[in-house]
Amino acid sequence: MHHFSYIDGVLHAEDIPLSAIAEAVGTPFYCYSTATLKRHIGVFKDAFAGDDALVAYSVKSNSNIAVIKTLAAEGAGADVVSGGELKRALAAGVPGDKIVFSGVGKTREEMAAALDAGIYQFNVESEPELQALNEVALSKGVKAPVAMRVNPDVAAGGHEKISTGKAEDKFGVAWERASEIYAAAGAMAGIDVQGVDVHIGSQITELAPFEAAFAKVAELVKALRADGHDIRCVDLGGGLGIPYGEEETTPPLPSDYAALIRTFTAPLGVRAVFEPGRMIVGNAGVLVSRVIYVKHGTTRNFLILDAGMNDLVRPSMYDAYHGVLPVKEPAPGVAEAPFDIVGPVCETGDTFARERAMPPMDAGDLAVFLSAGGYGAVQASEYNTRPMAPEVLVNGADYAVIRARPSVEEIIARDVTPAWL
Ligand code: LLP
Repeated sequence: MHHFSYIDGVLHAEDIPLSAIAEAVGTPFYCYSTATLKRHIGVFKDAFAGDDALVAYSVKSNSNIAVIKTLAAEGAGADVVSGGELKRALAAGVPGDKIVFSGVGKTREEMAAALDAGIYQFNVESEPELQALNEVALSKGVKAPVAMRVNPDVAAGGHEKISTGKAEDKFGVAWERASEIYAAAGAMAGIDVQGVDVHIGSQITELAPFEAAFAKVAELVKALRADGHDIRCVDLGGGLGIPYGEEETTPPLPSDYAALIRTFTAPLGVRAVFEPGRMIVGNAGVLVSRVIYVKHGTTRNFLILDAGMNDLVRPSMYDAYHGVLPVKEPAPGVAEAPFDIVGPVCETGDTFARERAMPPMDAGDLAVFLSAGGYGAVQASEYNTRPMAPEVLVNGADYAVIRARPSVEEIIARDVTPAWL
C-alpha cells in the first residue's frame, strides 16, 4: 500500500502532482512519500506490539537523513553497515541503544566509533573480527555487546546477488562451528555475548526459508544456553520482500511473519531484533524521469529517458522489475504497445525494461519508476558524469528537496589536477 495515485488524470505523491515537482526541481528525481514511510514502519511495529522487539531500520536501503528521521520519529532504530551509516543514524537522532552494526568488514575505527555511541549490538561475522572487537573494547575499558552472525545454510532471496544465507556466501560463521566460536567469545574480557544473529537474504517472498532459518536459530539458542551463555536476544535480520508487480507469490504480510517469529521467540523469552529495509522504503519511493526521445528502430521501439542505470541500477544489476507509469493518466482502454525502456548511458545494460507494454508516450512526457525507494538513490553513481538525481520528500501538501542535484561544475571541481599537469 502506497500513496502514489492518479488524481484528476495526473500521478500524485500524496497531495502533490509529480509534474509540479518535475517543473520545480527538474528530472530525473527521486520522490518519497512520508505517509507511506509512516504506514510501513507502523505496520511492522504494530505486528510486534506487546513483544520485546527492536525494529532497526536497515539504513543501507535508503540512507537520506530525512528518511531516517521520519522513521526514527516513529520509534525505529537503525541497522548500519559502515561508520558512515552510523554517523547518519546518529545525526538523524537515532539513539545509540537502538543501533545494531552489521557487515563483514568493520574496521577498528568503525568499532571504536560504535562503542563510543553505545550501540545496542555488534553483529560479528568472523573470528578475526571478534578478536579485533575484543581488543578495541579492552583498549577503551568497555565490553562490546555481541551477537555472532551464524550462517544457517538456507537458500533464499530473489536473486543470487542478494542471497546471503548459503554456506558458500561470505556472510556469518559456519553453523557447525558456532558453539566453538561462542566459547571463544565468552572467554574474551572485552566481549559481552548477548545474542544470535541471522540474515538469509533480501526480497524473500515466502515464509518457508525464514521458518527453516529461525528454527535452526532457536535450536542454537538452546544449545548455547546449555553451554552457559546468557543469550538474551535474537536478531532475525531483514529480507521480507515487497510486491514489485511481477511476482508469482504475494510477499507475506508482516502480521503473518510476526506470528511465525513468535512461535520461536516466545518460548525462548528472548528480545527479537529486526532489520527491515526494502519493506519500509521500497514502495515509499519513485524515480521520475522524462522521455527524451521516442525512437522507432528496425525491430524494437525505444523510450529513451533522462534517467539511466547510474540513477537506478537495479534492473541492470539484478534483472529487477520496476513498474513504469506515465504521469499523465492514459485514457481508459487506450491501446498499449511494446517498448524497450532505456536510459542515455552508453551501455546496452542501461535498459530498464524490454518489450514493456506502454500507453502512447511522446518526447517531453514524464515516466515514473515505481518501488524505487529502496536501493535506488543509495546505489546511484555519477557514471558518464551524470549528476546524481536529487531526492524529494512529500508530506501531504508539502514537499522539500532533501538532497539537491549537484552541478556538473561541483562534480568536476572534486577532481584534483596534479602539479605536473
Ligand atoms: N540486514 C542485513 C544484514 C542485510 O544484509 C540486509 C540487506 C538487510 C538487513 C535489509 O534487507 P531488506 O529488508 O532490505 O531485504 N541492493 C539489493 C538488495 C541488497 C540487500 C543487502 N542486504 C537490491 O537492490 O535488491
